Amino acid sequence: MAVSLTPRDGVESPGASLGRNELEKLEIELLLEGIYRHYGFDFRSYAYSSLRRRLWKRIEAERLESVSALQNAVLHDPEVMERLLRDLSVNVTAMFRDPTFYVAFRNQVVPLLRTYPFIRIWHAGCSTGEEVFSMAILLTEEGLYDRCRIYATDINDILLRQAKQRIFPLERMQEYTDNYIKAGGKRSFSEYYTAMYEGALFSAALLKNAVFSQHNLVTDGSFAEFNVILCRNVLIYFDKSLQGKVHGLFYDSLSTFGVLCLGSKESLKFSRYEHCYEELNTREKIYRKVV
Ligand SMILES: C[S@@+](CC[C@H](N)C(=O)[O-])C[C@H]1O[C@@H](n2cnc3c(N)ncnc32)[C@H](O)[C@@H]1O
Repeated sequence: MAVSLTPRDGVESPGASLGRNELEKLEIELLLEGIYRHYGFDFRSYAYSSLRRRLWKRIEAERLESVSALQNAVLHDPEVMERLLRDLSVNVTAMFRDPTFYVAFRNQVVPLLRTYPFIRIWHAGCSTGEEVFSMAILLTEEGLYDRCRIYATDINDILLRQAKQRIFPLERMQEYTDNYIKAGGKRSFSEYYTAMYEGALFSAALLKNAVFSQHNLVTDGSFAEFNVILCRNVLIYFDKSLQGKVHGLFYDSLSTFGVLCLGSKESLKFSRYEHCYEELNTREKIYRKVV
């Protein structure tokens, strides 16, 4: 006699059968575990709802029907993994993004940096490099760039390769020029790039002291001691425990009196490192390590 087993019919399980949402959650956990064990990318502690939204975007784009089907595709086809990686590493960025942040950086951080003979800066989660170019421009205008070494990292190597090409869409130059002016820019923004058919090619001088390399904030450790760490609009994608872990990494990687810059929607509040920093600028999320 054929036996039909539903999860409730005698299958040994730790609890009652799962509802639809819990089942999907389980599938997502299995997918993320598979990605981690097979490819080494660890998305297991990313914030759930935005992660789920992005997974479904990829499921639909691949014309699949379920998270489990995506798991099968991802584990057997690195190209699907590459496309999924692109979806999961949200790379929205802009030059002089949140211009008031750069005004605060010029006014409050630059005077501190002037007292250092050599300055190490880490852009963690730099995406396609717009933030790195913005900082290089600011430091050039403040006469500090020659004393700086910028380390720009991201989990996604494809974005880093794009950054190194120094080409950005021409159609965004008006927005970037406006941002640059609001950020307290001292020259004409067009001095920094040459317009070409394909885009705006930025000056090679802006990258002469910059190194791009792949680094995963979740799985990789500290690799140097920095005077400034910028990690803007990255931690919002992580859950609380992972945010805490990354704050530990930043704390360990910052020199005493080093400066931590977070994105406008991020903060050190409620992290166990909150009391290790003083707020240099509450609104712009600029902190200085004091203990
Ligand atoms: C929204 S972008 C922010 C770019 C830039 N910091 C800014 O604020 O304009 C987030 C970046 O974080 C990167 N990212 C996501 N998870 C990461 C991880 N575990 N380690 C390093 N970078 C990660 C993504 O690849 C993406 O480029």
